[in-house]
Amino acid sequence: MSLLELRNICMDFGGLRAIDSLSLSIGEGQILGLIGPNGAGKSTAFNCVAGVYKPTSGEIWFDGQNITGAKPWDLCRAGLARTFQIVKPFASKTVLYNVMVGAFARTDKTDEAEAIALDVLKSLHLDHKKDFKSGALTIADRKRLEIARAMATKPKLLLLDEVMAGLRPTEVDEMIDVFRTVRDSGVTIFVIEHIMRAIMALSDELVVIQFGRKISEGKPEAVAKDENVIKAYLGDEYVAS
Ligand SMILES: Nc1ncnc2c1ncn2[C@@H]1O[C@H](COP(=O)(O)OP(=O)(O)OP(=O)(O)O)[C@@H](O)[C@H]1O
Ligand SMILES: [Mg+2]
Repeated sequence: MSLLELRNICMDFGGLRAIDSLSLSIGEGQILGLIGPNGAGKSTAFNCVAGVYKPTSGEIWFDGQNITGAKPWDLCRAGLARTFQIVKPFASKTVLYNVMVGAFARTDKTDEAEAIALDVLKSLHLDHKKDFKSGALTIADRKRLEIARAMATKPKLLLLDEVMAGLRPTEVDEMIDVFRTVRDSGVTIFVIEHIMRAIMALSDELVVIQFGRKISEGKPEAVAKDENVIKAYLGDEYVAS
């Protein structure tokens, strides 16, 4: 069964059509990767799903409900969580505090929120830094914190926008493990990522967009061989390597 479905989404900004008749679906428990050149419309697609923008036309279905135009807080309660391309934790607050903010989407009791937050931090191997000020974390840990905050809302679907950008290769490997931990806990993942080896290793299915339009989709191995994708995005270098 598909957990998320985009049906013919268009998103216009004035005269610019950022998303052009995009349809895709994600099965429960899957990792779906969304790739494409800079400015292709990836973050805009996420913003439509997460309720930041109401699509100009088309429908978005989540968990059996039409959520087109629903507000972010209602979507959060329905089980949809996201991270932002630019990471913005409350820098002067502790790691634990930041994750508890997410947990308050599920409970109004402080001790319950703390228990949820500690559980999430433990599963993401960040519990030993729970008392650190968030602003003192490395970039890699800040990204991990961002995922922890989203996980504390107990989502069914997690949208991850370029959480691996700026990480060193070993940190990328660790982040791949984080994704797998999240997926194994039963959360479906919709991910935007430019780091090809990561997105190829993680995704069950890939969707490629250019100028807001879908130009390819399927298993990562098949998509990587697609002429359209090589021309638009991967370049001959990727094929050669
Ligand atoms: N709020 C907005 N107002 C006007 N134009 C926008 C807005 N948000 C995005 N755009 C435009 O829509 C297009 C798609 O942008 P988007 O940020 O979705 O691309 P992206 O695929 O996420 O790119 P990147 O890989 O660089 O993050 C771009 O041309 C961008 O300038
Ligand atoms: Mg983007």
